[in-house]
Amino acid sequence: MADKPSPDVEACLLAHLNSGSEVPDSRSYASSLGVSHKELEDVIKSLSAFRIVESTDVTKETWVLTEEARGYVANGSPEAQLVAAIPPEGASKDVLKEKLGSVFDIGMKTAAKNKWIGFEKGNKDLVLRKVDNIKDELQEQLKRLESGESASDKVIDDLKRRKLIMKEKSIWYALKKGPQFVAKRKKLATDVTQEHLRSGDWKEIEFKDYNFGAQGQPIAVGYVQPLLEVREAIENIFLQMGFSEMPTNNFVESSFWNFDALFQPQQHPARDSHDTFFLEAPAATKQLPEDYLEKVKEVHQSGGYGSKGYGYDWKREEAEKNLLRTHTTAVSTRMLYKLAQEKPFAPKRYYSIDRVFRNEAVDRTHLAEFHQIEGLICDYGLTLGDLIGVLEDFFSSLGMSKLRFKPAYNPYTEPSMEIFSYHDGLKKWVEVGNSGMFRPEMLLPMGLPEGVNVIAWGLSLERPTMILYGIDNIRDLFGPKVDFNLIKSNPLCRLGL
Ligand code: PHE
Repeated sequence: MADKPSPDVEACLLAHLNSGSEVPDSRSYASSLGVSHKELEDVIKSLSAFRIVESTDVTKETWVLTEEARGYVANGSPEAQLVAAIPPEGASKDVLKEKLGSVFDIGMKTAAKNKWIGFEKGNKDLVLRKVDNIKDELQEQLKRLESGESASDKVIDDLKRRKLIMKEKSIWYALKKGPQFVAKRKKLATDVTQEHLRSGDWKEIEFKDYNFGAQGQPIAVGYVQPLLEVREAIENIFLQMGFSEMPTNNFVESSFWNFDALFQPQQHPARDSHDTFFLEAPAATKQLPEDYLEKVKEVHQSGGYGSKGYGYDWKREEAEKNLLRTHTTAVSTRMLYKLAQEKPFAPKRYYSIDRVFRNEAVDRTHLAEFHQIEGLICDYGLTLGDLIGVLEDFFSSLGMSKLRFKPAYNPYTEPSMEIFSYHDGLKKWVEVGNSGMFRPEMLLPMGLPEGVNVIAWGLSLERPTMILYGIDNIRDLFGPKVDFNLIKSNPLCRLGL
């Protein structure tokens, strides 16, 4: 088909109205122009926004024919098609069925009811034609509906039941001149350009009014990842409680600082490659503080400071093995060692929030890398009561004020406690962290004075964040599968924290 140049719909419509005519029905006007109703509709919307034309919506629900019904309009109703297919001598059902397909079964019923067909006595298979002329009422009804005539309720119900018609809502418009009518719309300028200034035509041209009600473009600013948001909130709690941050910029750590200095025996299952990522290169650390290393070796092998030790043969090679740190308690240990070297001793409160790594199977609640929050207080004469009090302060600032503690075991703390908090939303107690008092076997070899205690606790950053944001799969929060839209649509305010 050759492309017909499409008419300038706006110009045609304005000229039509300008000549004094109106448009009672946009549908027929569109077809008189040879354009789709949609195309005309766009023009109408734009013109009525400027009140150049006045349009009145007309909505009507009409019955339209289904595809099946349109077939019957073209070829006759199934019963009529059936009768037409029967020759004077009659035809067998199989022959007719082959000829008519699905129309055969539908047509048989009505044709029999109307007594248009019959059967020979003793031969139920031969279909005979009983009338010469028939009046195809169904086809006529459908034709009438198609041309816009109305039909009785009974007819409509019947056609609806046979799925030959369906309701369709249509909208069209009645158009006349609007209060701002113009025979030709002027194109308004939107910007003063260099050209306008040079030619001086800016003095004559009309500019489009500013639309102060228009919505601005969304601003492409950065969005805060939930983990970073919660991290900052927690950081602020630590800072308000007088804690200072520890340097956490070493993901790679030696077994010595991650395990040995914490009085964790070299046979401990956590030191297995199933739980810990060991480095292939460099596989071993070069530097360890020799004096201190001797003391750590001694306390593992034979104890001291009131301890019996573990009584095994401590190996330096084991301590030198490099790994990805499995907890930020390695950071705390380095800090405490450093603190022990400063004389005279001064009490300290330290915190850190950073990444740790565990060789674990990844699932809805576990990742091989996550973030740990760690806090510690180092001072003379601290007790378990102090630890419980600090934890209550800390967690209630996080919005978790109902706490319970359960005795637990860590090689480096005694006593140790798991921390549970009652979650009002989930209506149950959830584990939120682990805590304890560092053992003398860990603190005294470092050189901390007798009588100095360290209370400490650790928790993951992901867990409270998931609870706060109602996220039940950790992979939606951290890692390559995170949906940026989730981050963009984060509420600015949350309940809790
Ligand atoms: N390191 C512990 C963990 O990884 C947390 C902890 C920190 C426990 C400090 C006691 C004291 O779960």
